[in-house]
Amino acid sequence: MRHLLDILDLSTDEINSLIETACDIINDPDKYAEKCKRKKLATLFFEPSTRTRLSFEAAMYELGGSVLGFSSSSSSSTSKGESVSDTIKVVSCYADIIAMRHPKEGAPMVASMVSDVPIINAGDGGHNHPTQTLADLLTIYREKGGFNDLTVGLCGDLKFGRTVHSLINALSRYSDIKFVLISPDELKLPDYVTNNVLLKNNIPFEETTDLLGAMPKLDILYMTRVQRERFFNEQDYIRLKDSYILTPDKLEDAKDDLCIMHPLPRVNEISVAVDKDPRACYFKQVLNGKYMRMALILKLLEVE
Ligand code: CP
Repeated sequence: MRHLLDILDLSTDEINSLIETACDIINDPDKYAEKCKRKKLATLFFEPSTRTRLSFEAAMYELGGSVLGFSSSSSSSTSKGESVSDTIKVVSCYADIIAMRHPKEGAPMVASMVSDVPIINAGDGGHNHPTQTLADLLTIYREKGGFNDLTVGLCGDLKFGRTVHSLINALSRYSDIKFVLISPDELKLPDYVTNNVLLKNNIPFEETTDLLGAMPKLDILYMTRVQRERFFNEQDYIRLKDSYILTPDKLEDAKDDLCIMHPLPRVNEISVAVDKDPRACYFKQVLNGKYMRMALILKLLEVE
């Protein structure tokens, strides 16, 4: 039985295979319409979500399966003090596969140790968000044709941004990748990612606070939200929340084929005026997420 807790649980060959399946689903959705008939997905969301939960649910429905679950810990017996382990043991009596989001880093790992069915990490605190990375990778593949020889700018909250941590891990396995890490000093990439991923693998990177200065060299600009829910101090959040706001004028020196990404939700960090720019790919990312989650469910359920 396989789980997906970290994007590195999948080899690059397996990611290529998921992308191939996702592209086949896009081209011929009818072929997949009954692949998960009589299978049940549980979505256990101890933390809010729009895209991840609903795209998992849409994915399972489009595969012919069913969905059960909860969208907040307050509507589950967690609110009565039930542990994650007990919740998972119970739900694995009802479902064939579980996608879970939890505010505590490592909760999906705990779940995987007691579960009788595959566990998918749908985001754990500021740690990892591997299925967002699958959505990001399909988007990059469809926009850029592959993952090699790219300069990737990551901008905003690189400290708590779990999507950023997972994407850096994933892209670091390809050749000629360079990262430009754009953030306020207080929200720099954590040392454990810089040391264990970038320095360890000799991946070129620069750290800067200057988005405009970095713009001309970027093939991908991955904007992120400053996440109020990760701050202990409201004053710090207010001071940092509008550090970067992407507006059309800031794209004047950007490449014509820049791919602008954002895992969403956005607050202020990309002006809605940018949505009309053909380089804006963040709503394509949302749709790609559903296809990759369909491919992942098929893989973890070992459906041919
Ligand atoms: N990108 C993402 O994880 O969005 P949600 O929080 O809405 O699931």
